[in-house]
Amino acid sequence: PGHGVTAVAHPNIALIKYWGKRDERLMIPYVDSLSMTLDIFPTTTTVRLAPGAPADSLTLDGSPAEGEVRRRVVGFLDLLRERSGRSEPAVVDTHNSVPTGAGLASSASGFAALALAGAAAYGLDPDRTALSRLARRGSASASRSIFGGFAVCHAGRGTGAAADLGSYAEPVPVPDFDPALVIAVVDAGAKAVSSRAAMRRTVETSPLYRAWATSGKTDLAEMRVALRRGDLDAVGEIAERNALGMHATMLTARPAVRYLSPATVAVLDGVLRLRSDGVPAYATMDAGPNVKVLCHPADADRVAEAVRGAAPGCSVFTARRGPGARLTGEAE
Ligand code: PMV
Repeated sequence: PGHGVTAVAHPNIALIKYWGKRDERLMIPYVDSLSMTLDIFPTTTTVRLAPGAPADSLTLDGSPAEGEVRRRVVGFLDLLRERSGRSEPAVVDTHNSVPTGAGLASSASGFAALALAGAAAYGLDPDRTALSRLARRGSASASRSIFGGFAVCHAGRGTGAAADLGSYAEPVPVPDFDPALVIAVVDAGAKAVSSRAAMRRTVETSPLYRAWATSGKTDLAEMRVALRRGDLDAVGEIAERNALGMHATMLTARPAVRYLSPATVAVLDGVLRLRSDGVPAYATMDAGPNVKVLCHPADADRVAEAVRGAAPGCSVFTARRGPGARLTGEAE
């Protein structure tokens, strides 16, 4: 018995990517990143303390969570117990409205919702910055889903406690920029290589990694200017080159990590055709074959149609900027 606390968070898609951790335990990224939180695919998580229970109990979309997912969630609950000086196990019930582990940012919305609900359940009261830092310990991209709209995640400096303190996300206010993101799900299956393993291999073996990380600094500075101007073409061009560069680092890892499939490339060709037809559209891809296309909201239907034509059978969703993580009040 006892009350649960429920939180909702949405995924985010990075326009300037994070790829590679300089501290895997503390989940500190090597590079700064910048994202847009979506208004679709929310994760809803309820956390209830269970003083008499022998262990934490976790369900994901109604089924018991096992293996790596369970290990990561229990590790996160251990951190909440350490911070709160409490020892009760928890019952965690999570519902994702997006396929888990398919490069569609389920870990971002998942750990943002868990951080918010879990902190409340264990009686912690972090401010938004502390909450973002906390969510980062679950998944670095989750630090950005604490905030709505656009958010930048600082990689921070130094090591240990200093690095932990310096790595968090904060909102990037962009009142005049409200693009659409057309999401082409060409394959909803779980990825073959986890992003954690792929990042490690890329950082350790790709000769392009440092060059990409360095050019990402320029990308981020230019992205901030483009966002402030509400310049979709500039935002799109920078996002597309930053994402392709990230995938180039993976392709040059040894052995190569290749998330992009023939259907991904077909959608990228479709995006190029749209541009040559005068429709501003720009692509970004994460740790999976699915493509997210940035465009003007007025062009979203045309872009969706082009994407469907390029990759028959894919599912297409259109997102706009969405809200930050929030508590929904006391659950039953
Ligand atoms: O979900 P994570 O924290 O394992 O990282 C995935 C990182 C990318 O989605 C590929 C890029 C990003 O910045 O979100």
